[in-house]
Amino acid sequence: MKVPYLDLKAQYETIRGEIGDAIQQVLDRTAFAGGQFVAQFEKEFAAYCGTQSAVGVGSGTDALWMALLGLGIGPGDEVVTVPDTFIATAEAISWCGAKPVFVDVDPVTYNMDPSKLEAAITPKTRAIIPVHLFGQMADMDPILEIARKRKLFVIEDASQAHGAEYKGRKAGAIGDAGCFSFYPGKNLGAYGEAGAVVTNNEELDKKMRMLRDHGQAKKYYHSLIGWNARMDGIQGAVLSVKLRHLPAWNEGRRRNAGIYDELLKGVPGVAAPKEAGYAKHVYHIYAIRVPDRDRLIASLAEKDIHCGIHYPIPVHLLDAYKSLNLGKGSFPVAEKSASEFVSLPMFPELSKDQIHCVCTELNLYCKILA
Ligand SMILES: Cc1ncc(COP(=O)(O)O)c(C=O)c1O
Repeated sequence: MKVPYLDLKAQYETIRGEIGDAIQQVLDRTAFAGGQFVAQFEKEFAAYCGTQSAVGVGSGTDALWMALLGLGIGPGDEVVTVPDTFIATAEAISWCGAKPVFVDVDPVTYNMDPSKLEAAITPKTRAIIPVHLFGQMADMDPILEIARKRKLFVIEDASQAHGAEYKGRKAGAIGDAGCFSFYPGKNLGAYGEAGAVVTNNEELDKKMRMLRDHGQAKKYYHSLIGWNARMDGIQGAVLSVKLRHLPAWNEGRRRNAGIYDELLKGVPGVAAPKEAGYAKHVYHIYAIRVPDRDRLIASLAEKDIHCGIHYPIPVHLLDAYKSLNLGKGSFPVAEKSASEFVSLPMFPELSKDQIHCVCTELNLYCKILA
């Protein structure tokens, strides 16, 4: 049985009519760059997250960059984050002229380990970016406590956690700003590139609205050096349609994760993901850990079962960050998990039969090795 890692077409087929109508409206009103459809989505997304506002931007990377710039992070500053993330988290810090500083992750949630955070903070630290990896939020209370004590901003990288919760509060709504990617494969994915920052900070909201639009609040009266990081109208309209389905899609992912959890119990050598007591996990990625993962992935691919790896190399060991001089062994938990992660097929429309097929093949393979 063919099991793709992700099937965007299957989801599109369920909303084809709504999407067609929404895009037609954008065309009819020629609201292509920013405009009313983006403004409407911003309102809806802020309400969904439980924040005062949302600022639509061009990508998740833009969202992180705008939030950092908006909070005044710049050259000479340090921003603490995790090595177990997509490079964009660190890139945004670097493009502000600041330095990314890493702390290791928790061995169960793979998110920032709050017990290691204080040691990474220096007089130059201005902000902390916890990443809600795979759809499960970082343990925010101890992170916020340290941030408050040290007067640091907290920017949530919620790019993989649309609708995830921490003690009943939604991802993005807890820090000074919450950054989202709407890359097509995300739980809430655009049909192109898009992102957003949610916040309760009015001043930050105002500044980011200017920064994303060449530093202007009034056309051609530029009071800041900004950038073109606007969300386009078609993405705003598509995201409004898809946001209405997000709760059901997240439930679908949770149901599928539950089936995986049951079927993977007792499979030798496989560590399945765990939902922390404080969390509602939305399983953007269902990552197991196995030793010798490359052979497993190749063996499943032979059976037409397609997996991913998120991410094979932690950020501090990427060539792009060689200049930080952080060698192997700097962050042992992140390094070990990165060498063992296998992302199994996961999307709301994945069928029970497909999950059974993945787990049967996995079980066979792992039993042979055991
Ligand atoms: C954790 C994380 N941060 C940031 C980003 C960047 O988002 P985008 O690709 O929309 O720029 C991603 C996207 O994959 C991500 O997973």
